Amino acid sequence: MIVETSSSPNRATVLANWKMHGLREDGLARARGLASQLAAEKIECDVVICPPFTLLFELASVLDGTAILLGSQDCHAEASGSCTGDVSALMLADVGCAYAIVGHSERRTEHGESDDDVSAKAAAAHRAGLIAVICVGESAVQRESGQAFAVVDSQVRASIPDSAQIDNTIIAYEPIWAIGTGRTPRLSDIEETHSQIRESWQMRFSRDGAGLRVLYGGSVKAKNAEEVLGIPGVDGVLVGGASLEVGEFWQICKASS
Ligand code: PGA
Repeated sequence: MIVETSSSPNRATVLANWKMHGLREDGLARARGLASQLAAEKIECDVVICPPFTLLFELASVLDGTAILLGSQDCHAEASGSCTGDVSALMLADVGCAYAIVGHSERRTEHGESDDDVSAKAAAAHRAGLIAVICVGESAVQRESGQAFAVVDSQVRASIPDSAQIDNTIIAYEPIWAIGTGRTPRLSDIEETHSQIRESWQMRFSRDGAGLRVLYGGSVKAKNAEEVLGIPGVDGVLVGGASLEVGEFWQICKASS
């Protein structure tokens, strides 16, 4: 299945990262809830749901005909093979995904994924026609020791494959210490980091990073979405916990519109 994305450089992108939450009944109800909000109230942003793998197939039919797109939370670097437990980008495209998150800090930390692994996964996503959402971000210790930018710069340069283009790649800046903690960086720090990410892209490719979409993620909620989305250089948000409740997530989508 080839999914046409409605992404436009001028629209914000709002990604719901459901992580390992949602049995069929919950997940389908949540997706139906969002679809009916969208049918009732028009918004001008790209909404992408990234559920657990187990829900992708059914969500593809629930969301068929709506403007909500589907994404995965990971993918394997190979198209097929003896890789027990893994799911390839091609398989994800086949069930209707348009996006694949790669290099989330929970994968980097809990599954030991290196920048090289992330780059290979992003390249596989590109080969399958998916938009790769490459996550980067520093730990609390790295931030406190003044290393935040060096860490993010090196992750961006090493995690982006040669196949990356402005229209098939999104960078998500997610400081690890802000994920699920209710803490967020100062608005000026987010602005500065997003601008530095565009510079890292430019250094990596010798190509202008002006059109590159850079999302912020880490404790985005309905109550802070508007101010985060108002920061220059923030092109959308990657939302974890607050994407599990339809009303809360919908408020974030509206703030992005
Ligand atoms: P959070 O998670 O919104 O719950 O902080 C964001 C993420 O990990 O993508």
